[in-house]
Amino acid sequence: MATSSIFNGIAVLALLVLFTSNAKAQLSTNFYSKTCPKLFPTVKSTVNSAISKEARMGASLLRLFFHDCFVNGCDGSVLLDDTSSFTGEKNAVPNRNSARGFDVVDNIKSAVENVCPGVVSCADILAIAARDSVVRLGGPSWDVKLGRRDSRTASQSAANNGIPPPTSNLNTLISRFSSLGLSTRDLVALSGSHTIGQARCTSFRARIYNESNIDSSFARTRQSNCPRSSGSGDNNLAPLDLQTPTSFDNNYFKNLVQKKGLLHSDQQLFNGGSTDSIVSGYSQGQSSFASDFANAMIKMGDISPLTGSNGQIRKNCRRVN
Ligand code: HEM
Ligand SMILES: *[C@@H]1O[C@H](CO)[C@@H](O)[C@H](O)[C@H]1NC(C)=O
Repeated sequence: MATSSIFNGIAVLALLVLFTSNAKAQLSTNFYSKTCPKLFPTVKSTVNSAISKEARMGASLLRLFFHDCFVNGCDGSVLLDDTSSFTGEKNAVPNRNSARGFDVVDNIKSAVENVCPGVVSCADILAIAARDSVVRLGGPSWDVKLGRRDSRTASQSAANNGIPPPTSNLNTLISRFSSLGLSTRDLVALSGSHTIGQARCTSFRARIYNESNIDSSFARTRQSNCPRSSGSGDNNLAPLDLQTPTSFDNNYFKNLVQKKGLLHSDQQLFNGGSTDSIVSGYSQGQSSFASDFANAMIKMGDISPLTGSNGQIRKNCRRVN
């Protein structure tokens, strides 16, 4: 009798452990297959039409997912608007005058709400939109894991501290990625995102005027549209990949080998340090970059999601319900 009640106790405990670990559920690729079967085509068509209007939008959407995941996990926090009583992440240094694509996210969300209201989180929409953007611009595809829920909060200071600035050195980049469970190889692969999109003069001015590990004719070219003195031309844009800024390819790594990285942080990946060999490898063969990138995006998408009954499914990505 006593033994059997101990056994019962153990069984109850085992079940509890099982359920608790279930509540902290893993993301899964088929999370919405029953509740929103039209999700993927709906997101894809809105992403594709936005990129048809402006190719850069693919880069902007990809970056939003990065800026979401690096700040308290992939929870849609980057999408929340500031209000008089709420300070979100949109005006954090890495986002202010820089993060874009929020209107496209709104369009995707409305299209998704039309086919399955109240079901799909904004955090998951960002994850799918990032994948679809990469694919639309010629990059690899992967199965997006889903089941994230949306935060009720955001943190400007966490965004300022969590997203590495372009002045970062290699050790800082490695340790920041490592603190989120991303390896040095993931860092290099994910940085390959800079094969698309644009940066503002203010993000690369110090590099093109002051650094020596830069191709001099490339520096002069960039100086022509980015004046030396801060305050003038701060928002002038230059492509992160000088060759094919709207194609998701490995030219970014070829640039680095030629000392034509635009950001200080880009060139850090090929500057005589431990990541040189990874960059060389990616510059020579597209396929290892493509598969490493896809795997690293899945890993980045796994950073501390809200699941189960945590968080909420926002109705409007810009505000908490
Ligand atoms: C390794 C550390 C990283 C640093 C220091 C960094 C920094 C930057 C900076 C400074 C810009 C230009 C912003 C501006 O001037 O307005 C930029 C743009 C961009 N970043 Fe990164 N980034 C990093 C990693 C990543 C990752 C991991 C991704 C995606 C997975 C990413 C995707 C992008 C994209 C696509 C753009 C262009 C956005 C557009 O044109 O709208 N970056 N990044
Ligand atoms: C270049 O470096 C000098 C000396 O550190 C500094 O005064 C100057 O502001 C820098 N110029 C740019 C464009 O960053």
